[in-house]
Amino acid sequence: MDKLLITGNGPLQGDVRISGAKNAVLPILAATLLANNASTISNVPHLNDVTTTMALLGRLGCQLTMTDNMQVEVDPSSINDYTAAYELVRTMRASILVLGPLVARYGQAQVSLPGGCAIGARPVNLHIDGLRALGADIRIEDGYIRARAGRLKGARLALDTVTVTGTENLLMAATLARGETVIENAAREPEVVDLARYLTRMGAQISGAGTGTIHVQGVDELQGAPHRVVPDRIETGTFLVAAAATRGKVRVLDTVPENLTVVLDKLRESGASLTQGEDWVELDMNGERPRAVNITTAPFPDFPTDMQAQFCVLNAVAEGKSRIVETVFENRFMHISELMRMGAAMDIDGNTVTVNGVSRLKGAPVMATDLRASASLIVAALVADGETTVRRVYHIDRGYERIEEKFRQLGAQIEREPDN
Ligand code: UD1
Repeated sequence: MDKLLITGNGPLQGDVRISGAKNAVLPILAATLLANNASTISNVPHLNDVTTTMALLGRLGCQLTMTDNMQVEVDPSSINDYTAAYELVRTMRASILVLGPLVARYGQAQVSLPGGCAIGARPVNLHIDGLRALGADIRIEDGYIRARAGRLKGARLALDTVTVTGTENLLMAATLARGETVIENAAREPEVVDLARYLTRMGAQISGAGTGTIHVQGVDELQGAPHRVVPDRIETGTFLVAAAATRGKVRVLDTVPENLTVVLDKLRESGASLTQGEDWVELDMNGERPRAVNITTAPFPDFPTDMQAQFCVLNAVAEGKSRIVETVFENRFMHISELMRMGAAMDIDGNTVTVNGVSRLKGAPVMATDLRASASLIVAALVADGETTVRRVYHIDRGYERIEEKFRQLGAQIEREPDN
């Protein structure tokens, strides 16, 4: 296990390139299972969750070829196993994404109930109910979801809660079902849209991705296709918040600013000057301290829960008082106690945190708890006086590519060491 040693040393400055989106590449790799032949996926980020997904595809019998320019070829034609085992699924909840494709294409799947980030109960009932409505026979036995089906049949699926991976699982399954499927109250996240783009290239007939209602006309088969993964809007937002919190000036390249409009609006409200083009955005704090901003998380297009922890840090060092309300996940405030150990003035009441901005944080030993919380601790360390040690950084490596190298390029003092 590694730890990061970080010493706050002033404003971040420079350019940083954004990687492909974790939350897009995971469903897209799962979707390669639907095809009769190989797909080539590019702009694949080098992340532990990607390695886990490739290990899972390999266990199912897929042939995987990786090239050094972040491109992966997946050939599913040699699949001979339909099980996602507990050892893999427990480290990554998103393994549930193979359920829909396996049932739709091969009529069977065994997927362990998921583990992953410890942020609330995170059930998968909507994935299961939706697949049942499409005609799959699903039992929960020995901690496994065991599914069997003949050809799935299109249906109207009205989701009670907006679920990102749930929408993706059902969208993938519906592509090979007989007849039409309508997914109502669908997630509208850019990653769902990117998945739909890839599926369409494979031959799927989909309309309405990116809106609350997705229509899928099932087809008999899908062919492998090339696809370039959309840039990561959460990584983009994380670097911009780090720039704002440190009163710096950073240009983020290879990104899609229009996928994080609400986050950019909040950064502007906190006092940042933003300039943007089609695939880049530059933030300049003009050396000023950020102003506190209120945040309420909600599904896209509203403020992303995956940016909540980073904005807690921005508010911790901002001028003024703010309220942060988390409506997507229960128990997603584990970073708060760590930030308070660094001198943040915060108070949790249910799903709301009240923050009184302080002018400085102080370095301290802290523990990474979940993926985005961990990123927030790095940002906090960058604005703190003295040294911070962030332990359990495996959470960060699940979702951020070379994070310490990228921060170093911006002038941060950050080292990785083994933590024994
Ligand atoms: C995805 C993202 C994650 C992000 C989250 C919300 C991936 C791989 N992960 O996670 O980074 O934080 O969206 O934007 O894309 N729910 C149910 N029943 C279900 C499914 C979900 O009640 O069957 C609830 C959850 O408990 C949660 C809410 O729905 O309260 C949203 O969860 P969901 O959108 O499913 O999150 P994930 O897809 O797991």
